Amino acid sequence: MPDDLVAAARHLLDDAPRALLGLTGVPGAGKTTLAVGLVAALNAASPGTAVHVPMDGYHLADRVLEAHGTRDRKGAAETFDGWGYLELLRLLRSRPDHAVFAPGFDRDLEQPLAGSIEVPSGARLVVSEGNYLLLGHEPWSLVRDVFDEVWFCEADPDRRMTALVQRHVTFGKAPEVAREWIASVDEPNAALVAATRGRADRVVTTF
Ligand SMILES: Nc1ncnc2c1ncn2[C@@H]1O[C@H](COP(=O)(O)OP(=O)(O)O)[C@@H](O)[C@H]1O
Ligand SMILES: [Mg+2]
Repeated sequence: MPDDLVAAARHLLDDAPRALLGLTGVPGAGKTTLAVGLVAALNAASPGTAVHVPMDGYHLADRVLEAHGTRDRKGAAETFDGWGYLELLRLLRSRPDHAVFAPGFDRDLEQPLAGSIEVPSGARLVVSEGNYLLLGHEPWSLVRDVFDEVWFCEADPDRRMTALVQRHVTFGKAPEVAREWIASVDEPNAALVAATRGRADRVVTTF
C-alpha cells in the first residue's frame, strides 16, 4: 500500500472525531482492494482505527429488482438503495460515539444482508467505496457531500478488463457469459462513472 495514500487517509483524522473517505471508479478499477488495503494499513499502525463499509450492502434484493423489472441491470445505479446509503453515511457522521451497523453484500447469497458490519464507537475512519459516489443527481450528489474526500480509482484499461473477466469467472460465470455481462451491464455503468472523474478530490492509479 503506497505510503502517501495511507498518510493522506490518516490526515483526514486531524480535526474531527470521525472522518469518512469515499473511493469510487468504474467496475473493476480496484476500489474494494484499495479500501481493504488502506483499512489494514491504518489498523496495523493503530488497531481499531478504520472500518470498511462498502456501498455493496445497499444492493436491492432480487425480489425488489424483479418487482421493478431491473434484475437484468443489477449493478446499475437504480438497483441500489441510494437514499438508504445516504442515511447510513449521515448516521456514521452524526453518531461517532455509538456503534452503527451496516448491511453487507453476501457473496454466497448474492443478496444484501442487514447488520453485517459493525462500526464501533471508537472507529475514527470509515472507508466506503462504490461506483456512484460522484454522480451528479440525488441521492448521489448528497452522498458526496457527506464524505470528507472522495478519491477516484483508475486502473490500466487492459489489465482492468482481464481482472474483471476473471472476477466474474471466479464468482461462477462462464467466460463468454462474463464478457457478455461486461458489455451489456458493466460497461454502460462504467461510462457513467468515468464521466464523474473530474469531481474527485484525488485520482489514484491502482494497477
Ligand atoms: N492493486 C492491484 N493490483 C493488481 N490487481 C488488482 C489490484 N487492485 C485490484 N486488482 C484486481 O482487479 C480486480 C478488481 O478489483 P476490485 O478491487 O474488486 O475492483 P472494484 O471494487 O473497483 O470493482 C480484482 O479481481 C483484483 O484482483
Ligand atoms: Mg468492489
